[in-house]
Amino acid sequence: MEKLTYTHDAASAAVIARFYPDAPPLAYVHSFGCQQNVNDGEKIRGVLMDVGFGLCENVEQADLILFNTCAVREHAEQRVFGNVGALKKLKEQNPRLVIGVCGCMAQQAHIVDKLRKSYPYVDLVFGVDGIDRLPAMLAQRFTRGKRYLEDPRTRNAVVEDLPIRRDSGFRAWLPIMYGCDNFCTYCIVPYVRGRERSREPEDILAEFRDLVAHGYKEITLLGQNVNSYGKGLSQPIDFADLLQRLCQVEGDYQIRFMTSHPKDASRKLIDVIAAQPHLCRHIHLPVQSGSDRLLKAMNRHYTIEQYKDLIDYARQKIPGVTFSSDIIVGFPGETEEDFAATLRLVEEVGYMQLFTFIYSPREGTPAAKLPDPTPRAEKTARMERLLATQERVSYAAIAAMAGQTVRVLVEGAGRLPGTLNGRLDNNLVVEFAAPDSLVGQYARVRLTGSRAALLLGELA
Ligand code: SAH
Ligand code: SF4
Ligand code: F3S
Repeated sequence: MEKLTYTHDAASAAVIARFYPDAPPLAYVHSFGCQQNVNDGEKIRGVLMDVGFGLCENVEQADLILFNTCAVREHAEQRVFGNVGALKKLKEQNPRLVIGVCGCMAQQAHIVDKLRKSYPYVDLVFGVDGIDRLPAMLAQRFTRGKRYLEDPRTRNAVVEDLPIRRDSGFRAWLPIMYGCDNFCTYCIVPYVRGRERSREPEDILAEFRDLVAHGYKEITLLGQNVNSYGKGLSQPIDFADLLQRLCQVEGDYQIRFMTSHPKDASRKLIDVIAAQPHLCRHIHLPVQSGSDRLLKAMNRHYTIEQYKDLIDYARQKIPGVTFSSDIIVGFPGETEEDFAATLRLVEEVGYMQLFTFIYSPREGTPAAKLPDPTPRAEKTARMERLLATQERVSYAAIAAMAGQTVRVLVEGAGRLPGTLNGRLDNNLVVEFAAPDSLVGQYARVRLTGSRAALLLGELA
């Protein structure tokens, strides 16, 4: 694994400045998909600002429009093509407008081909590995006056010191590793994000310290499977060790992390969460299915019994811990029996939150070749049953929290005027009346009731 360091590209910045002689250009950057991608979008903004761009919030003002895309489900890709298609008119009005597509979709050859052939007004395409080279790509686009479409490639490198323009002043994303080696049979991520590679703990610690020093109250560690952190590093370190090192940093902050793959979530990790007050008592532990047969077909490497053992252990060790999960409905060959096992698991675990997806075949993944006789209508019906079960279980658990007084991190405006939303340690959200000045601060809130998944409360 190669470690690269970003350096300011003065030559490309000069080319960009010459292309926009009248005023500094404005960039509109929109990220789809997971937090990793959102964090990449923050780095793209940082790099663009480093070479003279300003930022804008709508496409009409922009000189450069960049969609940082997600490929995880077909729906995500269709949305991007829809968004790109809507820009055709803008480009006709302003031929100097630069339209770019980057991120996970651009890691697939058939997508780059489609953009090349069917979207002639898209003039910049690069994958997840191109952020540090973006200034050079723009410079090339301007000097040659031609579209710059890069074919998918991966360097499997870690790039440090990228400039970053964070979306929030109090919550930050901090990637600890990139890529994925798990090859769950339904999933495109290992193909688009490349091999798993961990950042050096010293680099993570330096970024972490800097965030705490700048007053960040919540830092979320990111990786497709944070539990396998450390593989391939020269020093022996695992994810639990890393958490312990981070928690030594003094300050008023809390740490979250995602995603934990159940096959690698260790009791040692649970013990660290139990012992360290900086760590939130919430574990996102995607199970995908309640059927051992399907877990095998998905290449997940755990059984439901092992999964439930881990949940039991965490419940014993961490009072008040809550769980959330991802579930795929309608994986190829899912029977009514498999699905019933998923419903049972949801009841047994009592997830506070569930992210549910209807299986979407992804070109190039093993599951896309499996026979899938279940009609779409049946999959939709299963999805509705799953949601109904989840609502029944979680709404009751959420309502039962009334009466408690909890600490929350105030995130922003609530739905009703004069209210704010705060996130509890366990990842639930409470709405309460409070002045705007509390945004970005911790507050103590007394829980008075709930409406569906939303807690209601008042400042304590
Ligand atoms: N690395 C994380 C998840 C990344 S993708 C993990 O292992 O949990 C986020 C979620 O999208 C997955 O957990 C899965 O539930 C869902 N997903 C991934 N590929 C999918 C597909 N082809 N169809 C439907 N859902 C999918
Ligand atoms: Fe996809 Fe599985 Fe990797 Fe998660 S662990 S990103 S679901 S291959
Ligand atoms: Fe999507 Fe890429 Fe994340 S495919 S889920 S944006 S890693």
